[in-house]
Amino acid sequence: MIKKIKENIYSVGAVDENIKIFHGYEVPHGTTYNSYLIVDDEITLIDFVKEPFSETLIKNIKEIIGDKEIANFVCNHVEPDHSGALPYLQKEYPNAKIYGTAKCKVGLSAYYPELDMKNFITVKKDDNISLGKNNLYFIPAPMVHWPDSMLTYLKEEKILFSNDAFGQHLAVDDIWDESLDEKFLFDRVANYYANIVLPFGASVTSLIKNLSDYSFEIACPSHGVVLHKTLPTVLESYIKWSNYEVDEKQVVIVYDTMWGTTKKLAEKIEKEWKEKGFDVSSISLSENHYSHAMGKLIDAKYIFVGSPTLNNNVLPSVSAFLTYMKGLKPKNRIGKAFGSYGWSGESIGQINEIFKNAGFETLEEEKAIWNI
Ligand code: FEO
Repeated sequence: MIKKIKENIYSVGAVDENIKIFHGYEVPHGTTYNSYLIVDDEITLIDFVKEPFSETLIKNIKEIIGDKEIANFVCNHVEPDHSGALPYLQKEYPNAKIYGTAKCKVGLSAYYPELDMKNFITVKKDDNISLGKNNLYFIPAPMVHWPDSMLTYLKEEKILFSNDAFGQHLAVDDIWDESLDEKFLFDRVANYYANIVLPFGASVTSLIKNLSDYSFEIACPSHGVVLHKTLPTVLESYIKWSNYEVDEKQVVIVYDTMWGTTKKLAEKIEKEWKEKGFDVSSISLSENHYSHAMGKLIDAKYIFVGSPTLNNNVLPSVSAFLTYMKGLKPKNRIGKAFGSYGWSGESIGQINEIFKNAGFETLEEEKAIWNI
């Protein structure tokens, strides 16, 4: 995919329509691995693609620059969906310098022992390079969302190459946010934040504060569309989510069922809370991936989880959701456990235990023996 962003600035990455699960996270709309080419006196490539798309990336680059050399690679993030193509790129452009954080150097050396690291240049905050007409500034952003993470700012064009920050998992051909229905786009931005960025609220707050030093009008993330029209609203949402602000009237019920009784309990609880004036949505884990449920609860003050007892435990689908949610560390929430059982009924206690370990307040549980 080659798309022009501005004069001499191109998106040259790859569209992955076929991916369905991205390290345990469901991506029903696929994704893109965005790579950005700046054609200046020194040609520079910012971020790369996942290894299987290396050939596509190199072909796209050559369509623009022909046989010219790339002078600089900027590796904003070492995770393999962005760095996988680097060994291939280095074979093609062996003299290019590689810019990244100190942690990036460690990660690249570990992932790709074949990489020649003699041209690696370690950067820190406020370091910058001149490409000719343009200047790039490096903005390390540790734990947004890996220790090595970094953003890169193109001063003259007011473009922020934000890597994973502000991304969305969407396989789209048109690179601009304007091309998408805004509600759909924000749903994808929220889903991405909930599943990837949520545990790192303090780091996001620190990044947003740092970004006030840079005047940018466009954010080019490493997944999904380029943000221009929606950028102010996406930034506002990141501020809200990083502060763990939630909607006090929103309830999300996540459950699975064996013979329908826990489902009936979920429906009863949904009806009661709707009658109390709450905005309630229910997600069945038989029909939805746990990461879909995670995306839906980003703004919810109340997270209710239901499971019957199976062999003295919660159902594996609910257990997977709880493990996943616990790792993503939602804060400032109130939980309620519910579920059915026949004789022992351990599921409720196990859900409450996870709520308590996650720092949730808890409401009175609801149980049903056999049926309601
Ligand atoms: Fe898109 Fe942290 O990788």
